[in-house]
Amino acid sequence: MTAHYQVHGDIAVITMNNPPVNGLGLSTRLGITDGMALANADAAVKAIVITGAGKAFSGGADIKEFGTDKALQEPNLNSVIGVLENSDKPVIAAIHSVVMGGGLELALGCHYRIAAPGTSVALPEVKLGLLPGAGGTQRLPRVLGVEPALNMIVSGEAIKSEMLAMLPGQKLFDKMAASAESLAEEALAFARSVADARPLPLVRKLPCKHPQGDAYFQFARNMVKGMSKNFPAPAKCVDAVEAATKKKFEDGMATEREIFINLMWTPESKSLRHLFLAERAASKIPDVPSDTAQRAIQSIAVIGAGTMGGGITMNFLNAGIPVKMLEMKQEALDRGIATIRKNYEAQVKKGKLKADKYEQRMALLSTTLNYDDLTGTDMVIEAVFEEIGVKEAVFKELDRVMKPGAILASNTSTLDVNKIASFTKRPEDVVGLHFFSPANVMKLLEVVRGEKTARDVMATVMAVAKKIKKTAVVSGVCDGFIGNRMIEQYGRQGGFLLDEGCTPAQVDKAIEKFGFAMGPFRMGDLAGNDIGWAIRKRRYQEKPNMKYSKTADLLCEKGRFGQKTGAGWYDYVAGKRDAIPNAEVVAMIEAHRTSLGITPRKISDEEIVQRLVFSLVNEAAHILEEGIANKASDIDIVYIFGYGFPAHRGGPMNYADQVGLFNVVQAMNRFARNPMDDANFWKPAPLLARLVAEGKTFN
Ligand code: 3HC
Ligand code: NAI
Repeated sequence: MTAHYQVHGDIAVITMNNPPVNGLGLSTRLGITDGMALANADAAVKAIVITGAGKAFSGGADIKEFGTDKALQEPNLNSVIGVLENSDKPVIAAIHSVVMGGGLELALGCHYRIAAPGTSVALPEVKLGLLPGAGGTQRLPRVLGVEPALNMIVSGEAIKSEMLAMLPGQKLFDKMAASAESLAEEALAFARSVADARPLPLVRKLPCKHPQGDAYFQFARNMVKGMSKNFPAPAKCVDAVEAATKKKFEDGMATEREIFINLMWTPESKSLRHLFLAERAASKIPDVPSDTAQRAIQSIAVIGAGTMGGGITMNFLNAGIPVKMLEMKQEALDRGIATIRKNYEAQVKKGKLKADKYEQRMALLSTTLNYDDLTGTDMVIEAVFEEIGVKEAVFKELDRVMKPGAILASNTSTLDVNKIASFTKRPEDVVGLHFFSPANVMKLLEVVRGEKTARDVMATVMAVAKKIKKTAVVSGVCDGFIGNRMIEQYGRQGGFLLDEGCTPAQVDKAIEKFGFAMGPFRMGDLAGNDIGWAIRKRRYQEKPNMKYSKTADLLCEKGRFGQKTGAGWYDYVAGKRDAIPNAEVVAMIEAHRTSLGITPRKISDEEIVQRLVFSLVNEAAHILEEGIANKASDIDIVYIFGYGFPAHRGGPMNYADQVGLFNVVQAMNRFARNPMDDANFWKPAPLLARLVAEGKTFN
């Protein structure tokens, strides 16, 4: 049982105890109802306090139980809340740390609530593609007022208890405890003070109206529609709260229930739930147990103050970790610092950062031109030019000066981390930390594990990633690691689509409609088409038999490198990011097509999307089989956080699972018959073929 029962004089205390966050799984629900039965049967008990052990009151329904029989087994959450609400003895929720989702709904079913300051209060179900399904949409508006409640339900954002306690007329909290430490004592005293109060107050009995009624809900619906494209849940939250204002409580509850169950089965919710668990699973490495001792990281050195070095530095300054930046020349340092200042000043101007915080952050930054000054730092991240000779010189210097046990990381995007490690006498301390640009903004971090990287180095950098608020995914060493290795195949496929009859705008539009933040050609223009060109030139040497479209090379030969040159696949107006189709580029594509003797054909959006997405999926299957990625869900995280893959599709692997791997392979076989495409390209990866044969999925 994951809730325990104790009696303190005349007060019974039920403590949920289901680490890590007291998720309301079956055994906890049973523990609560059993405790209630004991308390109600004991004449000496006058009132009942319900609270949570450890770091939460409750994080809500047990997400890991969703989709299993246990989630449906009685007592379900609504039944548990019914037991609390119908208790003859007063039930007091003693809330602290985290009260979310079903946890908050449980508290709203109690007769009274006492909260510790600093408690994070939220109904975050919408972030899982759901709405609160145990009365949250009906009870929260009754205690907070319709507008504040709807804002919380639609955004899913957490608000601190002391802020909510200040809302005029709020009935969410009957009392605020002086501190988290005194909560237990204060809850007992409060319980005694209301032990004889009758009738017991019930949230369901409170009125629920909005003065503007229809007009307000119409306004809310319009707001939500603009914000939540691709996600059905936010609009449904509005429907449910509106029902709270217009229907009898029981009927409102029935409306909420029906919507909750329908949302639970949508692919959007399944994808978001998958991502919630995938993001947390990404931090776990199979052979690095969670109790692996970590190295202490209190200061950082960054080598190179360019685009990446500056962004990487900001992450650490933001987390309060001192950084020493090293460059070859003072001017480079000055430039790097000026860029960091410019970025922070923009944040101050937008009101996102307080001026004193900005100065505190800058005070953590020091610079040097001398490697000997790095001796005291615990970890160094190298972000110099992407040339193996330069990396060699830098790592030899780092090996000379860094203290024993310091972690030596490289931000290389293409070079062999094992080779870089071999430049030192301590390859076990070397690891790749592949940040994405802009490094101070992008959430993804690929942690590249070398052949010899020590386990405690892996454990340490995963923890450091969390500290600087990155979502880290482990990748083995290979060309392009997980993300760029897959994107190369996606780019190749984009080229074939042009050769066969598409325009860049048509391809981009189709995949953007599918939900990608940006299509391949707009992305190329943003990243710089010269980068792909350089990679292709290398490939033409390494893999002369591999088929590539040459259209992108023709574009680069015209100097159309993308936004930075004002012209790429599209034209750009200075200072703006709008991609304007260019007739000459379209003519160039057509002329090239003619020179290849290709008669263009009309290609459907569906085919465009499938070819692009399945090219990612097939390469990912190779990556999984080779052990470059530990699990399929890691690849989903890389694509959602690093490449703008639509979250409502849950990542390429989750999407392929949803489509059905059999159907994926069928489509690939069809594409392989297309004479213009590269038949080898579509040969299903052995893992993919095996999963289809066994009727299994990636995840
Ligand atoms: N159920 C089960 N496990 C949960 C959980 C939940 N509701 N919430 C968090 N966890 C688990 C995580 O999976 C993770 O497990 P792991 O250690 O095995 O990886 C662990 O708790 C810690 O999670 P975090 O890494 O996120 O820890 P933080 O301390 O950063 O955050 C939190 C804690 C604020 C509770 C955060 O986890 C969170 O926001 N959780 C989601 C809460 C949520 O969405 N609740 C609504 C559930 S749906 C619901 O209640 C339906 C109802 O209306 C009927
Ligand atoms: P950049 O050219 O903007 O900056 C490199 C900086 O390193 C320059 O300021 C240069 O003066 C300095 N430098 C060069 N040699 C040095 C040395 N021996 N000692 C000290 N400083 C030295 O390059 P950028 O874009 O920041 O890239 C850096 C690294 O990050 C590369 O390995 C690159 O592959 C990688 N990377 C780049 C990404 C990007 O989008 N730009 C994304 C992810 C990784």
